[in-house]
Amino acid sequence: MATPQTVIVTGGAQGIGLGIARCFACRNANLIIADRAVEKAREAADQLRAAGATDAAALACDITDRGQVDAMVEQTMKKFGGIDVLVNNAGICPFIEIMELSPEVWQKTIDVNLTGAFHCTQAVARRMIPRGRGGRIIFITSGADTLTSPKQVDYAAAKSGLRMAMVGFSTALGKYGITCNAIAPGMILTPMTAFHWEIPENAALLKQRVPMGRIGTPEDIGNAAVFLASAEASYINGITLRVDGGLWGITPI
Ligand SMILES: NC(=O)c1ccc[n+]([C@@H]2O[C@H](COP(=O)([O-])OP(=O)(O)OC[C@H]3O[C@@H](n4cnc5c(N)ncnc54)[C@H](O)[C@@H]3O)[C@@H](O)[C@H]2O)c1
Repeated sequence: MATPQTVIVTGGAQGIGLGIARCFACRNANLIIADRAVEKAREAADQLRAAGATDAAALACDITDRGQVDAMVEQTMKKFGGIDVLVNNAGICPFIEIMELSPEVWQKTIDVNLTGAFHCTQAVARRMIPRGRGGRIIFITSGADTLTSPKQVDYAAAKSGLRMAMVGFSTALGKYGITCNAIAPGMILTPMTAFHWEIPENAALLKQRVPMGRIGTPEDIGNAAVFLASAEASYINGITLRVDGGLWGITPI
């Protein structure tokens, strides 16, 4: 049997992060669920061991706090001896009209979605480089990396920044065999978005707009992450893979 990959998923306690972790568990990975919601992360780790993970553990970590990120990376190194894959998934979307948005919420959106991924990427890459075995860093961005609306100005500012941070890291880390790529999910059913899709008109509009005719699942994103982390993807670096059922190609009329 192949040596299991050691994978850190930030924000892996629920939603897309948990779906990603489940897909890696099916490939017998060692998993670290790094989430500020530690109780939920523990439940997720139990679920992942049952789903086939070689091992899975929860670590309490607020990714906006560099000290907590460094401690999480240290604990992962201590437990598994190395890190093969980092998935920068943790994110928030306050969904508040820009003219009503407080400076504090603006800053938090930037801190979690953008600066948190910087902390995790730098801390993990500093461990991957001396190990000399390369690595994979996957950034979960969004269609809001290039599109926005009045309620997603802070979110789009953070996600577009994250897309370029990913490209920038790919230029710095490629020479070490570490690839950096983004997955831009479309409409995915998770606790973050469920409230939108419970409104019947929104659900109907979504079915009509998305060429595949359905909302995405966290596993749709997880399967793409497993591919980007695989040997088959070893020369893919600095791209954004849109996993959105074809939504990206649609014009308004
Ligand atoms: N759901 C969608 O339709 C969709 C679409 C595009 C992009 N995304 C992106 O996918 C990612 C996951 O979204 P989701 O829908 O699963 O969201 P979610 O709210 O269901 O889950 C987010 C997870 O991140 C954790 N988290 C939040 N802030 C954190 C912090 N500071 N430190 C550590 N953990 C933190 C939460 O505790 C939670 O477990 C986000 O980056 C989001 O922007 C989601």
